Amino acid sequence: MNLLAEEPAASATPAAILDRQGLRESSARTYARWLPIVPVRATGMVIEGADGRSYLDCLSGAGTLALGHNHPVVVEALHAVLRRGAPLHALDIATPEKDDFVSALLDVMPAELRHRSRVHFCGPSGSDAVEAAIKLTHTATGRRGLLAFTGAYHGMTLGSLAATGATGPKERVPGIAADVTRLPFPYAYRCPFGIGGAASGRLGAGYVERILDDPSAGVVSPAAMLVEPVQGEGGVIAAPDDWMREMRRITSERGIPLIVDEVQTGVGRTGAMWAIEHSGVTPDVLVLSKAIGGSLPLAVLLYSEDLDVWAPGAHTGTFRGCTLAIAAGAATLRFVAAEELPARAADVGERITASLRQLARATDCIGDVRGRGLMIGLEFVAPDSAPDVAGARPAAPALAQRVRAEALGRGLIVELGGRHDAVVRLLPPLTISDEQADSVVERLAGAIVAARRTLVAGAA
Ligand SMILES: Cc1ncc(COP(=O)(O)O)c(C=O)c1O
Repeated sequence: MNLLAEEPAASATPAAILDRQGLRESSARTYARWLPIVPVRATGMVIEGADGRSYLDCLSGAGTLALGHNHPVVVEALHAVLRRGAPLHALDIATPEKDDFVSALLDVMPAELRHRSRVHFCGPSGSDAVEAAIKLTHTATGRRGLLAFTGAYHGMTLGSLAATGATGPKERVPGIAADVTRLPFPYAYRCPFGIGGAASGRLGAGYVERILDDPSAGVVSPAAMLVEPVQGEGGVIAAPDDWMREMRRITSERGIPLIVDEVQTGVGRTGAMWAIEHSGVTPDVLVLSKAIGGSLPLAVLLYSEDLDVWAPGAHTGTFRGCTLAIAAGAATLRFVAAEELPARAADVGERITASLRQLARATDCIGDVRGRGLMIGLEFVAPDSAPDVAGARPAAPALAQRVRAEALGRGLIVELGGRHDAVVRLLPPLTISDEQADSVVERLAGAIVAARRTLVAGAA
């Protein structure tokens, strides 16, 4: 019996598919709005559209595809599960695949986490895992406040959205974020203290410490501090290592669990297997999703045994045992470690960033080029406006959008993030070749020149 729908050729054209999507899917669509392609095949970093064009993918499923699309080790892991006839859905029941995944995960964890952690399989998205981490720390401490940072992105469910910095998605959700205390993230380029540079982190850490010790500061007694070691959606802002260590010291001294959200930074992306390795900080809770499922949906928490206070059934969920994701994730973790891809991400990331800095010096519309490993961002600014006290010119979201569109026209997929969506972000797979890296820079350079030209033409 063939259960696949056979579309008449005319209604399966890319234009017809895009039209139907516009009519039938929710108005909350995001990527689909600026990426009007219909991917039909993908290998590594290359996506083939139904229109016959090929694209270099620097979006990588919003940072999910550590090994790019359809990597042979992932595909083989999936085939092997199917060949064995293993149950594809297993709730949280023990399976050989799950047992193997936990071993693979613990094997690549820093020793302090490997030896004293519990692993909890959550619903499969990053938001689910953040939600679980918040709930766990509430239960363990009996407190309800949450310390979160400016520019943070933790997801779109109610708790994770409350912790997210962007106010736009929260404005139409009454009552959200009542218990979140917002703290300054060390964003040197747009320094929350108007000073910039290294002082940004120093001042921020001092502020955090003072506000926590001030009984009249209005801080709801915190169940946890939630932080990203590199803000991705927030505009590719890496927390300085000494600032991360300060957050660990400040929270430890006050008995506040530290939750580190490595949903986007994990699995080699920043040039270390886990971004916490740069600072040597050991969190109480580590939140993982995206790349750990090897392209498929999977999320886990790793948390200190001291926090293992949940009663049986305290945090359940139907989709916690997707065998395909678990097998693909274990294969990905082992491959990334065996091939030393974190070191490769550091090297190639540095090379791309250096070329982009050169590019920035040759134009007047890039305020900052920054990143860690293969999380790279270029912040676009208004060339003719005056800088603020810390030297940053106003964000130029329309220009960034134009760059993204020009890049797409040149077969390069990049996304935007950051304040006002003015940061062009690159999240290529860790398997990117040197030639592909050169091609990314070349296409982006062309896109920037063309976008800058339209800005001039528009002003004329
Ligand atoms: C740091 C971080 N946390 C949480 C999330 C939410 O993950 P998801 O979109 O899978 O819910 C994201 C998504 O981009 C993220 O970057």
